[in-house]
Parts: sequence; C-alpha cells; structure tokens
Amino acid sequence: MSGTAVVTGASAGIGEVYARRLAERGYHVVLVARRESRLRALADELGGEALVADLAAGADVTRVAERVAAEDVTLLVNNAGINGYGSFGEVDAELLSKVITLNVTVPTALTRAAVPGMLDRGRGAVINVASLLAFAGALPPDPLPFRAVYAGTKGYVVTFTRTLAAELAGTPLKIQVCCPGYTATEFHLTAGDTSVADETAAAKRDEPHAMSAEDVVTASLAGLDAGEVVVAPGLDDPAAVDRLVAAEAELRGASRPVLAARYRE
Ligand SMILES: NC(=O)c1ccc[n+]([C@@H]2O[C@H](COP(=O)([O-])OP(=O)(O)OC[C@H]3O[C@@H](n4cnc5c(N)ncnc54)[C@H](OP(=O)(O)O)[C@@H]3O)[C@@H](O)[C@H]2O)c1
Repeated sequence: MSGTAVVTGASAGIGEVYARRLAERGYHVVLVARRESRLRALADELGGEALVADLAAGADVTRVAERVAAEDVTLLVNNAGINGYGSFGEVDAELLSKVITLNVTVPTALTRAAVPGMLDRGRGAVINVASLLAFAGALPPDPLPFRAVYAGTKGYVVTFTRTLAAELAGTPLKIQVCCPGYTATEFHLTAGDTSVADETAAAKRDEPHAMSAEDVVTASLAGLDAGEVVVAPGLDDPAAVDRLVAAEAELRGASRPVLAARYRE
C-alpha cells in the first residue's frame, strides 16, 4: 500500500485515468469532482472514497483541503481545470474568474494544505496538471479558440510548481508539473462552468490528433518515478527543458542595476 492519493477532477478524462492507475499501484484513492453518480461508481469500483465538491465554491474547497491535510495522504494530484475559452472582450467575466479559481487558487490552496504534513512525515508528492499552452504565449497557429486567461493560469501552474520544487529539492518530497498537449477528453466540450452531460460525452467526436489520457498519465507517473519536475508527455528530447532553463538564466541575468544599452538615450 502506497498510502492515499487525492485526485481532483477524477470524474472524467485525465483525472479518471490517474485514479485508476494509482489504485492499481496500491493507493487508496480519494476522488474529487462535482458529478456524484460518476464519482461514486468509480470509487466503488476502485474501493476508494468519493468526495463530491464544487471546487469553485469556497466551503467545498475547505472540506477538500481538510481531507488533503490528513496524515494518510501521500499524493495529491491537482488535475481539475477548466478552459473558459472565448474572445477576451466577450467571454463572461465571471467565467474568467472561475478559470482562475479552479486553475490557480485551488491547486495553490490544496498544495499548501498538503505540504506541511508531508514534510513532517518525510514522505509525499504533489502533481499539478498544467498544459503545453503555458509555453505557447503568442506562438502561431492563430490562438483559436482564444485562450489568454487559460494559458496564463497554466503558466502560473508551471512557474509555481517549478519554483516550489526548487524550494523543496533538499526534502524527500517530489513535486511535478505535468504539461499535456491536446488530449482526447471531455475538456473541449465545455467551457467548464457546467459539467458535460453524459449523452454529450458519449457522442463525442473522435479526436485523431489528440493524445490519449492513458498516455498522459503513463508519462506523468513514469516521470514521478524518475524524479522529473517538468513532464511533457509528447516531448522526445528532454534537453528542451534544459534549454528553457538556459534561456531563463540569460533573462534572469537582467536583474542587475545597469540599464540595458538600448534604453539609454
Ligand atoms: N484535454 C486537453 O486537451 C488538455 C490539455 C492540456 C491540459 N489539460 C488539463 O488537464 C486537466 C484535466 O482535464 P481533462 O482534459 O481531463 O478535462 P475533462 O475531461 O473536462 O475533466 C475535467 C475534470 O475536472 C472536474 N471539474 C471541472 N470543474 C470542476 C469544479 N468546479 N469542481 C470540481 N471538479 C471540477 C470535472 O468534473 P465534474 O464536471 O464532475 O465536476 C472533471 O472531472 C485540466 O487541468 C486541463 O486544463 C487538458
């Protein structure tokens, strides 16, 4: 038995696969999402717990944080996330707030709930699910559907996780950010403020250009075993991450008291 794993967004897609794989690895799984019937069916199948919660609601987040802080918890997977795609000037402002809550505030709060106890017990891991869109910025192709806020939240998850991993590098804790590309799930069927209806999910079109959620989780768990902080499931050459670090070091070198020559008169 590997302890208890709490997986948010476990009623569908990548989170459901994490739940199944972690149960196979011997974890007791605690499944968090809004759709109660799906969660209970999966929890029964895996011998785990269903923790029905709307992570956009503060009181529910408090309940989940309490469960995450319990001493049996050895792994937290912050997977729940929504996209809120749309033209920035037109998309509902409340939906954008919800994207930030779900994708930024909640993973931060749950990580904060998990880490102190894990440090005390000398054991534990956190996986945060971001996206390759964290690295897309203004890159082509045209950024449709529009995604500035979503990409921004995932950029936060990458920077937060990498920085925390560096802070905790001398401890037994493992901290990972998993950055999938386009993945075949229900994700693109809703902006996220309401769950996808079962019949919509069942009628979902094939996504031939998408990676399977199974492959995403295979990469993430292999990366966890290997101690990788940044996992990009489709990335053949992991040296790309080292080159990113080298570019960051060059930019970070601009933190000095001397103004760059091109800004001087
Ligand atoms: N699919 C992709 O192409 C892709 C690519 C890169 C990164 N990602 C990231 O991967 C993660 C998982 O996405 P997915 O593709 O597996 O999406 P998905 O199939 O839509 O699953 C999303 C999960 O999040 C849960 N969720 C949504 N809103 C919630 C809320 N308010 N409270 C609690 N749970 C909530 C959903 O459950 P309920 O509806 O039952 O609450 C569901 O279990 C996300 O963080 C996403 O940003 C996805």
